[in-house]
Amino acid sequence: MKNIAILCSGGDVSGMNAALKRFVEYSIAKGLTPYFIYHGFEGLIENKIVKANYSDVAGIISSGGTKIHTARSKRFMEQTYRKQALDNLKSHQIEYLIVMGGDGSFKGMQKLADESEGIRFSGIPSTIDNDIAGTEYCLGVDTALNVNKFAIDSIRDTASSFSRAFVVEAMGRECGYLALVSALTSGAEMCLIPEIPYELDNYKERFQKQIKEGREYFIAVVSEALNNSEQIAQWFKEEIGIESRIMVLGHIQRGGNPTVYDRLMAFNFVTHAIDGLLEGKKCSVICYSGYGFHHKHIDDVAFKKYQINSDLLKLGMEYGHIR
Ligand code: F6P
Repeated sequence: MKNIAILCSGGDVSGMNAALKRFVEYSIAKGLTPYFIYHGFEGLIENKIVKANYSDVAGIISSGGTKIHTARSKRFMEQTYRKQALDNLKSHQIEYLIVMGGDGSFKGMQKLADESEGIRFSGIPSTIDNDIAGTEYCLGVDTALNVNKFAIDSIRDTASSFSRAFVVEAMGRECGYLALVSALTSGAEMCLIPEIPYELDNYKERFQKQIKEGREYFIAVVSEALNNSEQIAQWFKEEIGIESRIMVLGHIQRGGNPTVYDRLMAFNFVTHAIDGLLEGKKCSVICYSGYGFHHKHIDDVAFKKYQINSDLLKLGMEYGHIR
């Protein structure tokens, strides 16, 4: 029996537990012995590697977060600690390793793969930021978008009742995807993201006209990447003449009951990861596009820049942006 392990690294996402369940069940079905590595790359350095079984994943499909915990490991970028990590994998005779995480995690995986012999790696893009090059979808994004939809729908109720402007700040680190899709799907009046240059005067003209026509409230969704929520709230007050409030969505975007879509995606990502490892792929990331799932070599993913697809950007340009 060959041994296979999985770890979660970086920001947790809803759907990781569904992936762990599939990992245990599918590994066993394929004649592999599954192991959990607790606390991400930190746990790998510390040898927190434990055999997993069906009972470990019973009843976890509906919970967000990750049962095996996650971490951001700075010291994993140092070769001495990666050597320790590899020694730990070897001591458990682990031949396959699945890494669930974002861009930073894949950089770690790439370095480990370069230094290891005989171990195969597979990455599952998992970040609410949806900012991994080579894939259109990362696990957890649908749940985060639904959290935002619920939050913004609720904010609309109070914004309209009080005739206020709300500046809603969405996560995404340096990427505007989450903010853009949240703005579009909740019918926000303003959307500011780093990928699209904007002109506040364009918005001003439009909003003043709308106020004359009877509009009494506004919802603005801004990406955390711009770090300008205060400035925009002030702008509403001073330039548009409407009372404003800021709502930072924050870490609630990372949690909660995973959507049906994320549960299914978790199952599919894991299935493709295990199949790829068994087929002999040395170090690939499972990517998803409109054409389905495919493997990309880690070199084509890590250290590469993600770009929001052009149809979405086009929709985003319809806000008050510079064309
Ligand atoms: O990577 C996911 C993410 O939630 C980003 O959107 C955000 O910028 C960052 O993590 C927050 O990091 P932390 O959980 O360390 O505060």
